[in-house]
Amino acid sequence: MTDKDIIQEYKKLCEEVNYHNDRYYNQDSPEISDYEYDMLLRRLETIEQEHPEIKSETSPTLLVGGKASAKFSEVEHTVPMLSLHDSFSHEELLDFDRRVREVVASPIYVVEPKFDGLSVSVEYENGILVRASTRGDGFVGEDITDNILTIKNLPHRLKKPLPYLEVRGEVFMSNESFLRLLKKQEENEEKPFKNPRNAAAGSLRQKNSEITKQRELDIFIFNIQQIIGAEITSHKQSLDYIGELGLPKPPFYNCFTSMEKAIDEVERIGAMRGELPYQIDGAVIKLNDYDGRELLGSTAKFPRWAEAYKFPPEEKATKLLDIEINVGRTGALTPTGVFEPITLAGTTVSRAVLHNEDFIKEKDIRIGDTVILRKAGEIIPEVVSLKEHGENTVPFKMPELCPSCGGPVVREKDEAAIRCTNTDCPAQLMRHLIHFVSRDAMDIDGLGPAVLERFVNEGMVSSPVDLYSLDYDKIAAFDGMGELSAANLRKSIEKSKSNELYRLVFALGIRHIGQKAAKLLCEHFGTVEAIMQADSDEISAIDGFGRIMADSVCEYFSLDSTKELINKLRELGVKMPAAQKRTADSKFSGKTFVLTGTLPTMKRSEASKIIESLGGKTSSSVSKKTDYVLAGEEAGSKLTKAQNLGITILSENEFMEMVKG
Ligand code: IVH
Repeated sequence: MTDKDIIQEYKKLCEEVNYHNDRYYNQDSPEISDYEYDMLLRRLETIEQEHPEIKSETSPTLLVGGKASAKFSEVEHTVPMLSLHDSFSHEELLDFDRRVREVVASPIYVVEPKFDGLSVSVEYENGILVRASTRGDGFVGEDITDNILTIKNLPHRLKKPLPYLEVRGEVFMSNESFLRLLKKQEENEEKPFKNPRNAAAGSLRQKNSEITKQRELDIFIFNIQQIIGAEITSHKQSLDYIGELGLPKPPFYNCFTSMEKAIDEVERIGAMRGELPYQIDGAVIKLNDYDGRELLGSTAKFPRWAEAYKFPPEEKATKLLDIEINVGRTGALTPTGVFEPITLAGTTVSRAVLHNEDFIKEKDIRIGDTVILRKAGEIIPEVVSLKEHGENTVPFKMPELCPSCGGPVVREKDEAAIRCTNTDCPAQLMRHLIHFVSRDAMDIDGLGPAVLERFVNEGMVSSPVDLYSLDYDKIAAFDGMGELSAANLRKSIEKSKSNELYRLVFALGIRHIGQKAAKLLCEHFGTVEAIMQADSDEISAIDGFGRIMADSVCEYFSLDSTKELINKLRELGVKMPAAQKRTADSKFSGKTFVLTGTLPTMKRSEASKIIESLGGKTSSSVSKKTDYVLAGEEAGSKLTKAQNLGITILSENEFMEMVKG
C-alpha cells in the first residue's frame, strides 16, 4: 500500500468508528455487531502503531465511550472512569501477563465475567446513595441518580455508614426482562431494541424515571473507585467488602497464580455464557494487589493492570426448511424462517424472524438454502447471510392472500409490511383481543389467549365490545372454568370499566400509538370526544407526536366503526373518565440552575424535578452560562464561584416564591 492509500484508509476508518461510536454510545442503536466494531477499532490501532506519523490527535482510539448528552446535568468524575484494553486471543493475554511480570514479581489474577451493559458510578455519603452517573467520555458523565434509584437490587442505604464510597458497576437488563420488553414493544408496534445492552442503555437514559422503573434493570458492582472509612488493599478483598456492604457483587470471581490457569477460567466462563440469565461479552483479568496496580499505572484510556478478553459471536450454518407467515394485530404478515435445529450460544434454535419481503429479497434466501444464523445479543436468533443456494431453489414470494382468512393483502406506499385488509380476519381479531386485555392496556386478569380463543370459537366474542356483555352462566359451565373462575373474570372485567382513559385508547390498537403516545394524547385532549374531534395538525403539535402518528389517530377516529365501538363501550358501562390535562408551563424555559449544599426541606432531586417540569435545565458546575444557583447549607466552592461571577443566588424559600409566582 502507498502512503496515500494508508492515509485514505485511516481517515475512512476514523470516520467509520466515530459514526458507530455515536450510534452505540449516544443513540443506543448500533448498526453493526460489537465484534465487527471491535475489528474496525483493531485495524485502526494497527495502522496507528505501524504509522505513528499519521495518527490524528482526535483519533477515536483516544476516546473512552460516548459524550454526555444535554438531556441530563453533567457530573465530573473525580476518579476517571477508564475503559479496558481488549484481547481476542490467548497469545494477547500471555503478552499482558509478560508486561505485568516486568513490574510485579508474582502476580495473582482475579478473573470475573465481563457484563454487557452500561458502566455507571454510584456514590454513597454516610452510607446513603447520593448520586449516580454514566461514564460519558470517562471524565464527564450524566447525572442519572433518579433512574438508578429505581434499580431494585441496588440498596439506597449501605449496611455500614461509611463516610464516603464511590463504586463502579455495570447496569444491565436480564434476558428475561429483555424478552418481556420485546414482547411489549412488538404489541405496541414500537421499534424493538436490538439487544439487552441497548435496552439497558435506552432505559437508563430516560428522562422519566417511571419508565426506567418499568424496565426492570439490574446492576453488578465490580470496582471501588474511592473509599473513606475502610482500608482495602486488594481486588478480592474489595469485592468481598462490596458484598458485606449489601451491594450486588459479581456472582463469581476467582484468584489464580498463573496466566495459564486464568485462561482456563476465561474459557470456563465462555462455556457457561449461554446458560447465564444475563449477557456477558467476555471475561476480565485483573491484578489482585493494589500496590502492584499502582506500580503499573494507566494509559490515558486503560489501566495497565487489567485486560478484557472478548468472546467471538457464535455463528452456524443450517438449512432453511420453510417460511411461515403470521398475521399480526394490525394485519401485518410477518415471515418466520423454520430451520433444521442447531445449538447456538447454549440453546437450540429452529426459528428466526425474517422481518419482511425486502429482508428476504436483500439476503436472497430461499426455502432449501443453507444460511448462517447468529444470536443477536446472544438471545434473539437472526439470519446473517446466505451461505449457499440449495438445489433448484426459487426466490420466495409473499402470499397474495391472507393465510388466515384468505382476504386480500396490500403493501402500502413507504411500508415494508404487507397487510391483510379484512377487518374481520380471525388472526387479527385474536391478536386484537389479546392486546385489548393485556396488562398495559385494559389489564383484564383471567383472559389468557386460550380462554379468548374459546370465546371466539364459541361465537361469544367477535369484538372487544362483547367482553362487556359476556354470559357468565355459560362461562361457568365451561370445562375447567367453574363458578369461581367465572366470578373472578367478571370482577376483573367490571374493574376495567373504571380504567384511566389512556388504557382504553392504547387498547384500541391504533397503528403507531403505543402506551406512551396514548397517555400524551389523553393528557393533551382530556376526553375521548375531544380526541375524536381533533384534526391531524392539532395532534401532530403534541410534543412526541409526528405526522404519521397524528394521521393514524385521525383516520382511526373518523371511521364510523370506531364511533360505534366507543358508543357501545360507553353504553355497556366503560367509563372513559376525563384525563387530567397537562398544562405546558415554561416559566424556567432557557434557564440553567445549579444546585448546591443541603436545602432545608427539599431534596436536590425534588428541586431538579420542579425546575425541569417548568422547562428549565440543571447543571452540576457553575459557569457564565448559569442563571441561578440554588444554595443550601454547607454550599462550598460552587457558591463562591457563583458569587464571583455575579450570578443570582437563591435560597429554597426564594426559589419556591419564583415557582409559585
Ligand atoms: S473493570 C478501571 N470489570 O467493560 C477498570 N469492567 O470494556 C474498570 N465491564 O467500561 C473496568 N464487566 O463498563 C470491569 N467485571 C468487570 C466488567 C467491566 C463489564 C465493562 C465496564 C467497562 C467496559 C470496558
